[in-house]
Amino acid sequence: MVNYKDLGLVNTREMFAKAVKGGYAIPAFNFNTMEQMQAIVQAAVETKSPVIMQVSKGARNYANATILRYMAQGAVEYAKELGCPNPQIVLHLDHGDSFELCKNCIDMGFSSVMIDGSSLPYDENVALTKKVVDYAHQHDVTVEGELGVLAGVEDEVCAAESHYTKPEEVEDFVSKTGVDSLAISIGTSHGAHKFTPEQCTLVNGVLVPPPLAFDVLHEIEEKLPGFPIVLHGSSSVPQDEVATINKFGGKLEAAIGIPEEQLREAAKSAVCKINIDSDSRLAMTAAVRQVFAEKPAEFDPRKYLGPARDNMKKMYEHKIINVLGSNDKL
Ligand code: G3H
Ligand code: 13P
Ligand code: ZN
Repeated sequence: MVNYKDLGLVNTREMFAKAVKGGYAIPAFNFNTMEQMQAIVQAAVETKSPVIMQVSKGARNYANATILRYMAQGAVEYAKELGCPNPQIVLHLDHGDSFELCKNCIDMGFSSVMIDGSSLPYDENVALTKKVVDYAHQHDVTVEGELGVLAGVEDEVCAAESHYTKPEEVEDFVSKTGVDSLAISIGTSHGAHKFTPEQCTLVNGVLVPPPLAFDVLHEIEEKLPGFPIVLHGSSSVPQDEVATINKFGGKLEAAIGIPEEQLREAAKSAVCKINIDSDSRLAMTAAVRQVFAEKPAEFDPRKYLGPARDNMKKMYEHKIINVLGSNDKL
């Protein structure tokens, strides 16, 4: 049994309370590789931001659970080495799909887990989430649950209202399960293709997607005053990165994300955790493709993963300062 406190990590309880009160959101950046982890820590330290480093089940299989535990400890020590005496770093399981996976992560040093029962019938979601909360809270690990289904990239009607979280369910879910935060569905979705061009409006040559369902968010806030809300699928899919990828041999068509103004607005509300994965993948891939195209004789991985790391760091800092507002909070 590894306790996250011994690794220097923190859970989300205090940082979420401060974020909700302060009208900003904590960045939750997914990572799979050392370069992503380094870039996240560098950006968090330079901007003096708390940060959630999150891993999906797939990322955990890719990186190896034991290595991850030492990477998390390394992230804390690296932050201190970079000049941050008291880093606020969470190691979070993203989209946990079973009690066993959540328990295993808690036993291996995670300070926060998500149990995603959103695709289950309501009562089964409640029962599974409560089981995870009961175990997690014995170890002072915080838990994120989810209500409402985010549309998949293949879904033709990804902003369909029927997928949204039902505000009338949230109080019952939170009180029955004891979750510490709740992921909701208000029109975001995972991946780099969140909307089709047909769903967007052309404004000054830019495809603008339909707005997020802020009315649903506000109804949820009224039912759960001050309770921490989480937004998944919040990449903005920067068009300059998409253009670089396509210029240097990639083929990303109609990649459209969530406009940053909308995320900025959400961050000022009870939304206190914003999940970003795809933007990091795009920043990494754009930089690697550029080096491969411009320096075809290069075969030292540091010469392409280094620029990839720098590009991701720039993106993380931009999100922290210009979108989430979590800078200068340490
Ligand atoms: O929500 C999903 C995250 O972007 C993680 O994706 O399962 O491919 O690691 P992944
Ligand atoms: P994006 O695909 O929009 O980056 O969303 C990531 C996410 O929600 C991880 O849980
Ligand atoms: Zn997600």
